[in-house]
Amino acid sequence: MEREQDSPSMSAGNIPPKKIGSAKAHFLERESIGEFMIKVGVIGYGYWGPNVARNFNLPGVSQVVAIADKSEKSQRRAQEAFPHVKVVAEAQEILQSPEIDVVAVVTPVWTHFELAKAALNQGKHVFVEKPFTASVAQAEELIELAARKRLQIMVDHTFLFTGAVRKIRQLVDEGTLGNLFYYDSMRVNLGLFQHDINVIWDLAPHDLSIMDHVIQKEPEAIVATGEKHLNNLVDIAFLTIYFPGNVVAHINVNWLSPVKVRTTLIGGEKKMVVWNDLEADEKIKIYDKGVSVKNGEGMYNLLVSYRSGDMWAPKVEQTEALKAEVNHFMDCIAANRAPVNDGHAGLRVVRLLEAAEKSLHERGSLVQIESPFAVGV
Ligand SMILES: NC(=O)c1ccc[n+]([C@@H]2O[C@H](COP(=O)([O-])OP(=O)(O)OC[C@H]3O[C@@H](n4cnc5c(N)ncnc54)[C@H](O)[C@@H]3O)[C@@H](O)[C@H]2O)c1
Repeated sequence: MEREQDSPSMSAGNIPPKKIGSAKAHFLERESIGEFMIKVGVIGYGYWGPNVARNFNLPGVSQVVAIADKSEKSQRRAQEAFPHVKVVAEAQEILQSPEIDVVAVVTPVWTHFELAKAALNQGKHVFVEKPFTASVAQAEELIELAARKRLQIMVDHTFLFTGAVRKIRQLVDEGTLGNLFYYDSMRVNLGLFQHDINVIWDLAPHDLSIMDHVIQKEPEAIVATGEKHLNNLVDIAFLTIYFPGNVVAHINVNWLSPVKVRTTLIGGEKKMVVWNDLEADEKIKIYDKGVSVKNGEGMYNLLVSYRSGDMWAPKVEQTEALKAEVNHFMDCIAANRAPVNDGHAGLRVVRLLEAAEKSLHERGSLVQIESPFAVGV
C-alpha cells in the first residue's frame, strides 16, 4: 500500500515561515566550502528516511556522510541510493563520529528520545521525526539539554513548509480571514496500520502542528474520543481542542475510511478557507462568505444577514517541503537561532497528544492543557 498518504506531497511545498536567507551564503564566506560543509548522519532508512537523506544533500551546504539502519534490507537500499556514503547497522557509529555535525533521527517514535539525547550529548544538532517524543517529560528534557549545549533541535513538522500551509499562515497574518472561528480537518484513508502507535500518534501530529502554526494561541483543553476495532490500537479518533476567544479546532483521523480525504476548513470572521491537499492545482480556495447577526427590537427579532461573495484560488508554491525545511535548518544552525519547528513546537504537539490519550481513555473527558504552553512562533 502506498505510504505517501500520511505525508506532505513530495512536490507541494515552499519556503518556511520565518525569513530564510541562503544557508550557503553563510558558508561561502568561509575559505573552503567543502571543508566547512555540514556533515549529516541519518539514522533510520525505512519509509521516510530516504526522503530525509535525499534532501539533506544540499550542494555547497550540507552532505549526508553516513546512514545507519538495523535492517539489512534497508542498508542495501541505502547503499544503492548513496554509493559513496558509509552505511552501517549501528546508530552508535553515527552518534560517536567526530566528523558528523547533524544527526537526523528517522526511526519509530519510541526510539526518538534515546537517539536524540545521545546525539545532543555528543554535541550534534538534531533533526527528529514527528512526533518529537513519546512523552512531555522526554521533550522537556531534550529541550533543556539542547539549550545547555547550545545546539539546535528541529522537529520534522513537514507540512509547515508546504506552499498550502505557508499561504494559509500568510492569510491569517495579513488579516484576510479576520478573527478565526474554527479549524476543522479530516485526514482519513484505508490504513496504513501501525504496530506501535495508534492513529492519533500516527496522523494527528500533522494536523496539530499545522493548527498550532495557524491559530497561534495556547489551547485551553482537549476532548478525544475514538475506538479500536482490529489490532488493539485506536484506529479512528476525533479530537476537539478549545482555545481562548471561542476558537475551536476539530481533527478527524481514521485508518478505516474507504476513501482518502485530506480536507481542512478554516472559518474566519471575514473569509473562509477550504484546503484540499489532494487537489493538484487550486489546493486552497478562499470564500468571501459569512454571517452577521444583529439584535433587532424585541426578543425574537434577530437580524441575520448572509454574505455570499466571490471565491478565488491563490497561487501556491510547488517546491518540495522537505527541501525548504532542511534549508531552514541549515540557516538556523549557521545563524545560531531556533527553527520555527524547534523543540518547543514539538513539545506543544506532544503535550496535546498526551492530553488526547488521557481523554480517550476516559471516553471523552475534558482534559485541561497545562500552562505555561509557550508559543514560540
Ligand atoms: N514527516 C512526515 O511526513 C513523516 C512521514 C512518515 C513517517 N514519519 C516519521 O518518521 C519516523 C519513521 O517512520 P517510517 O515510516 O520511516 O518507519 P519505518 O518503520 O518504515 O522505518 C524505520 C527504520 O528505522 C530503523 N531503525 C529503528 N530503530 C533503529 C535504530 N536504533 N538504529 C538504526 N535503525 C533503526 C528500522 O530498521 C527501519 O528501517 C516515524 O517517527 C514517523 O512518524 C514522518
